Amino acid sequence: MIKGIFPTEKFQHIETPFYWYDMDLLRETLNVIRNECGNKPFHVHYAIKANANPVILKEIASYGFGADCVSGNEILRALECGFKPDKIAFAGVGKTDKEIGIGLDHDIFCFNVESIPELEVLNSLAKERNRKARVALRINPNVDAHTHKYITTGLNENKFGINEQDLPAILQIFRNSTHIELIGMHFHIGSQITDLSSFEDLCVKATELQEWFNQQGIMLPVINVGGGLGINYQHPNHCPIADFESYFRLFEKYLKLQDNQTLHFELGRSVVAPCGSLITRVVYVKEGLEKNFLIVDAGMTDLIRPALYQAFHHIENISSDLNYQPYDVVGPICESSDVFGHERLLNTSKRGDLIAIRSAGAYGETMVSQYNCREKPASYFSDHI
Ligand code: LLP
Repeated sequence: MIKGIFPTEKFQHIETPFYWYDMDLLRETLNVIRNECGNKPFHVHYAIKANANPVILKEIASYGFGADCVSGNEILRALECGFKPDKIAFAGVGKTDKEIGIGLDHDIFCFNVESIPELEVLNSLAKERNRKARVALRINPNVDAHTHKYITTGLNENKFGINEQDLPAILQIFRNSTHIELIGMHFHIGSQITDLSSFEDLCVKATELQEWFNQQGIMLPVINVGGGLGINYQHPNHCPIADFESYFRLFEKYLKLQDNQTLHFELGRSVVAPCGSLITRVVYVKEGLEKNFLIVDAGMTDLIRPALYQAFHHIENISSDLNYQPYDVVGPICESSDVFGHERLLNTSKRGDLIAIRSAGAYGETMVSQYNCREKPASYFSDHI
């Protein structure tokens, strides 16, 4: 029996839990992004942190996109999977000397620098290697992304980015340093942003800052607005591809680029979330006093988003066609927060049924832990199954 988009029959003999990726959906998404950006001076650097599975990365790299990395190992992984060094941006508040060295040795496109001490270290490490590091300043724009507080990054209270007040001092450092070159400004206000007006606010702020730089006699060739475009977790079948058209059109409308300026994006979730599902098996159906529990073999170690951010993922039983009834879908981990969903309507389920937890392609596999000595879930791809 094939139910919905899943080859349930083929899943029967695979050990659960596992991640399953719909590669056609990934390719469709990548085509949409490429078409939307194709005729504009827009460059997408895929945020590796969302999903660093080599099969996924190779597919994304084959479309010519760049990479946004937040660790030395992400840079190495991106290079191994075919991303070009001159399209790699390196962000992060705590880049170590070793990691900066990896970036310098591969002469990556740009370091998104987040503080004055980092800028000074970058200059001295580049000097040791006789290199010149290209820098985009990550500026904290103090723009509210209206999303979960753990994934809001662009407010003054957050640890990320440089404050506007520090910019004159930073320009002075550039004037006195020989091995760093200022090429742009960088922002990232948060993730899972569905109210696009937050990006409008960002455009207003970026334009203001752009004018300030121009007044100082500086023209920046690169503006990087980070990532953050949200997806529809509620309706994965009706809205499998994020609204890239409105997203890119917004930036085209509200951020006027100067001559020879390029606009850069670091999209993660919107690229890969919809194509991934966590497939798990019902271990027990437990009848409680007030509710019924589906105890499945995946836990928060395999997908931590519901436990950490109270995130919603659509859940469906892909083995059953019986009437719907409410269940709390929970994992086996010894933590009360190990719950995938409360009071979810699923087809009547029994031990052994397969359950799909949808839209898990981003920040799923990359955030797996081995708490309780658990094994990491395997991954399978629609191309090979
Ligand atoms: N650029 C920077 C500097 C970032 O910090 C992030 C994500 C991105 C780009 C990509 O953002 P996206 O397009 O994926 O929203 N684990 C959380 C999300 C953390 C996002 C961290 N930064 C979750 O599962 O919701």
